[in-house]
Amino acid sequence: MAQAVRISQYGDPDVLEVVDVPDPQPGPGRVRLRVRAAGVNPADTKLRRGLWSGGKPLAEPRGLGFDVAGVVDALGEGVDGLAIGDEVFGASAGPAYGELALADPAKVFRKPAGVPWEVAGGLGVAGRAAYRVLALLDVRAGETLLVHAAAGSVGILASQLAVARGARVIGTAGPGNQEFVRGLGVTPVVYGEGLRERVLAVAPDGVDAVLDGSGRGELGDSVALAGGPERVITIAANDAAEHGVTFSASDGDVDTSPALPEIARLIADGRLHFPVWRTYGLADVREAHRASEAGHLTGKIVLLP
Ligand SMILES: NC(=O)c1ccc[n+]([C@@H]2O[C@H](COP(=O)([O-])OP(=O)(O)OC[C@H]3O[C@@H](n4cnc5c(N)ncnc54)[C@H](OP(=O)(O)O)[C@@H]3O)[C@@H](O)[C@H]2O)c1
Repeated sequence: MAQAVRISQYGDPDVLEVVDVPDPQPGPGRVRLRVRAAGVNPADTKLRRGLWSGGKPLAEPRGLGFDVAGVVDALGEGVDGLAIGDEVFGASAGPAYGELALADPAKVFRKPAGVPWEVAGGLGVAGRAAYRVLALLDVRAGETLLVHAAAGSVGILASQLAVARGARVIGTAGPGNQEFVRGLGVTPVVYGEGLRERVLAVAPDGVDAVLDGSGRGELGDSVALAGGPERVITIAANDAAEHGVTFSASDGDVDTSPALPEIARLIADGRLHFPVWRTYGLADVREAHRASEAGHLTGKIVLLP
């Protein structure tokens, strides 16, 4: 038996429970990992609240977590290229919040020795999203990119990747994160009322492209600042269609397989910063979700089972 987080109903963080479950067995083409770190994403808290359930109650208990880093401890039939003892990170195939998790070998990657477990465990969802949206926006050297929620996990990665490409990045953040965002090589702007004017104060001609990682009503200003919706992409706003803006929901539109190895290599080389804001044991998963939902984090929340 292994410890894992389960929910039996949708609701507030108190629905999260740590229970003993039978060890998951890797079927054909899957590996099992002894989990060293599992990132907490806003998607996990949205799922827990039932935002994607279509109003239906949960039919049976389920686990949570999409991001994982761990050590391969069992191989399913037909797996080659990975061996027991390999240290990998990326996407879990099934719930990651637990002592053991399954993974598709095509969606996990070797963890460079220089990348700590807790950093590797939080890279999956945010790393792929940042890479994907920059590819869709086709941000180039010399262009100006506006990133909403630059202090969030996606914003931190996307901002630095764009700066590394030679773009100028303007990033929105709360007052407490202005200096942090500046440290990423980004021009910080405080979000909220008057945002458009504050962006124009640092970019009088507007911006070339916008990555909205906030989803809190920024699309009108974003379209105005970019001179149209063509190069505005949101990963978080529900009103994208009203503004003619693309909502990028999943990897389907871009091959993101290079994303995580590239990001991990940059982190190992000290050229990209991905701060872990707080870590929690499995027993404190409710606190981890409360912290994520409180919303003013500076980097990643990670579970260390
Ligand atoms: N579609 C996809 O593929 C995809 C993938 C990943 C994430 N997402 C979504 O994208 C969003 C961001 O995810 P994440 O993992 O980066 O989140 P996160 O790490 O939880 O960060 C959220 C950030 O939002 C900032 N924030 C709070 N209020 C804000 C405001 N009014 N304007 C701008 N920033 C504000 C906070 O920083 P301050 O302290 O500066 O306020 C915080 O750092 C979530 O809604 C998530 O579900 C979508």
